[in-house]
Amino acid sequence: MNGDLGDDPSIPAEPGPSPRPTEVAPAALRVGDLVQFVDVKGRRYQATLRPGGQFHSHAGFVEHDDVVGLPDASTVLTTKGQRLVVVRPTLSDFVFKMPRGAQVIYPKDLGPILMLADIAPGVRVLESGVGSGALSMAMLRAGAEVVGYEIREDFAERAQANVDRFAGELAADRYRIELRDCYEGIDERSVDRVVLDLPEPWRVVPHAVEALRPGGILLAYTPSTVQVSQVRDAIAEAPFFDASTLEVMQRGWYVEGAAVRPDHRMVGHTGFLTVARRLA
Ligand SMILES: C[S@@+](CC[C@H](N)C(=O)[O-])C[C@H]1O[C@@H](n2cnc3c(N)ncnc32)[C@H](O)[C@@H]1O
Repeated sequence: MNGDLGDDPSIPAEPGPSPRPTEVAPAALRVGDLVQFVDVKGRRYQATLRPGGQFHSHAGFVEHDDVVGLPDASTVLTTKGQRLVVVRPTLSDFVFKMPRGAQVIYPKDLGPILMLADIAPGVRVLESGVGSGALSMAMLRAGAEVVGYEIREDFAERAQANVDRFAGELAADRYRIELRDCYEGIDERSVDRVVLDLPEPWRVVPHAVEALRPGGILLAYTPSTVQVSQVRDAIAEAPFFDASTLEVMQRGWYVEGAAVRPDHRMVGHTGFLTVARRLA
């Protein structure tokens, strides 16, 4: 059986029961687990553990059977003696490696979105578009019930596969994707949140007014300032208050011995987050 080099986003997702998003994962690694091999340079490769499977790297391979039963975050040796740590990936790890079609929202923005939109267990969310499902997964993991409107069937299928692979049956009854154009309207009523990541979110604002309960939150993620202006204009003309827009900057630090300084490179820009609350 061939090994997985999960850093290739063109490799299709395989079903796997773990890691589990809303329960503590068991300590030992099991057949069917999604795991991540991390080499000494910090490179990460994801694979699903299978009987007889092998993880291949440029420095030899590891038998999956030798990994099954080990504690999470164990160190293993490849056939050529290279050390690898094998660990269950976090949601952040998974988002960086998962198969994708559309541009995903990255962990830098996913965390703040959960806070700004106040995503919590039982919160009812209308999300559009669904894209590759990164934002869906973050909200499902926070316990929300998510209905996603997505216009492209291939993206909807990929998002569903990603959610199934990472969140599995624990999210199954809290997630539904509908193939439809969000600009034409929202059928749901009294939702708690409308969360948008599509090109013209201002076209959804009037529908969000109909869909949101009083006090509900509208959030739009938009890469460009022109989009920000247009969505803010639409919000200003509708029954919303407390509108605000921000962007999230993240700067990593290099820490080694006496060299403690900001990384030379950082992500310059991803998107703007605009949020507002529905008036009664
Ligand atoms: C940038 S992607 C969303 C990525 C997603 N937030 C994630 O984290 O994976 C934008 C998505 O909006 C979808 N879309 C564009 N216009 C739409 C519309 N009118 N109704 C529903 N979905 C739409 C696109 O097909 C695409 O999948």
